[in-house]
Amino acid sequence: MDIKTSRIPGFYKLSVYERRRLVAEFASLGSAESQPNNEMPALELEQAERMIENVIGTYCLPFAIATNFTINGQDRLVPMVIEEPSVVAGLSYAARLVRDGGGFQTTSDEPLMIGQMQILDVPNPAAARLRLLGAKSELLEQANTIDPVLVRLGGGARDIAVHLIPASPIGPMLVLHLIYDVRDAMGANAVNTAVESLTATVERLSGGRVGLRIISNLADRRLARAWGRVPKESLALEGLPAEEGVQRVLEAHAFAEVDPYRATTHNKGIMNGIDAVALATGNDWRAIEAGAHAYAARSGVYKPLTTWERSAEGDLIGSIELPLAAGTVGGATKSHPQARYALQILGVEHARELAEIMASVGLAQNLAALRALAMEGIQRGHMRLHARQVAMAAGAEGELVDLVADRMIQAQTVRSDAAETILKALRVQTGSV
Ligand code: MEV
Repeated sequence: MDIKTSRIPGFYKLSVYERRRLVAEFASLGSAESQPNNEMPALELEQAERMIENVIGTYCLPFAIATNFTINGQDRLVPMVIEEPSVVAGLSYAARLVRDGGGFQTTSDEPLMIGQMQILDVPNPAAARLRLLGAKSELLEQANTIDPVLVRLGGGARDIAVHLIPASPIGPMLVLHLIYDVRDAMGANAVNTAVESLTATVERLSGGRVGLRIISNLADRRLARAWGRVPKESLALEGLPAEEGVQRVLEAHAFAEVDPYRATTHNKGIMNGIDAVALATGNDWRAIEAGAHAYAARSGVYKPLTTWERSAEGDLIGSIELPLAAGTVGGATKSHPQARYALQILGVEHARELAEIMASVGLAQNLAALRALAMEGIQRGHMRLHARQVAMAAGAEGELVDLVADRMIQAQTVRSDAAETILKALRVQTGSV
């Protein structure tokens, strides 16, 4: 039984080094990382050069930790890379609310990805479709010769489906789906290689010509789910009955259910959390984004990815389901030192575990946003951090950052010109110019 706790009151008040030390202890990262002035691993220029083309440097973003998560009874500290203020604080707060109700529960599908093959100029598409389906064993067997290591790990080709598209701007076409278990990888490389290897066989069987061969980012066979309860008392508003807090979140969710303009922003908030974990762990956040939004629109109408309900006891029950093609091996997950570090902090080995954590983060991030929007308006929390950023952009450093931010908030004018004027006045006052 793991007795480590992610509930660390006052984590935000510690110094960066103290936070790092606590994280290292929590994740049993070893003695080097637990030392007082320990440095975080960083991406070296040579490593960056091996990653992509035409490199001229590296680019830094804040790397932070969300606290308070308990998922399937296990506490987790969640690494996040994001530039937006309030996301990490909001997430940690919402995770605490769900923790009050027993924490997150999660499930996920097997890591099945879809590789697509477009087949054009097919003489008798309906009959060709049946010929391809009839050759399923041959196609799966052939695809499985490509990556024996993945097959040995329990992955590989699982199934095929063939769709007949009777009309398109260039006429009819067949689309073959190869369903492929990618185990702990995101899977693009494995799937793309597998579908490319089937070209000649598919052309022979169909009598047509193979066009595109590529993974689909609508990973709807690889869904992750999370749900949790927030006791109504945890949402009590000052001077209002506890039920009112629950009601306000339900009203906010209802808005997203009936209005795609709102659903888009609702889901953007969910992805604030999921993308930040994807980025921290070296995952392809664009693929995850694409899959999430396509899944949200699967009924033909764009819908929210979360659902909020009231339990018989009056508590708030939240749930989320979305495709999550995240890996713990391959790509930048191992080649980026900070991604490796993030995976160590999470203590995950398998992709499904990571996907389930990401789903929990998405749900909590949504709760944080809805609670803030429905109960106090989003600007209150945002304003202070925003004001600090504006102050820094205007050139404030050290103690001046908070002084400039406070004056702008008092004057209800958080703008770069205001920051510059205040900064100039403060510098004259303190004799620093
Ligand atoms: C801002 O990055 C995210 C929110 O707009 C999400 C939402 O409106 O639900 C606060």
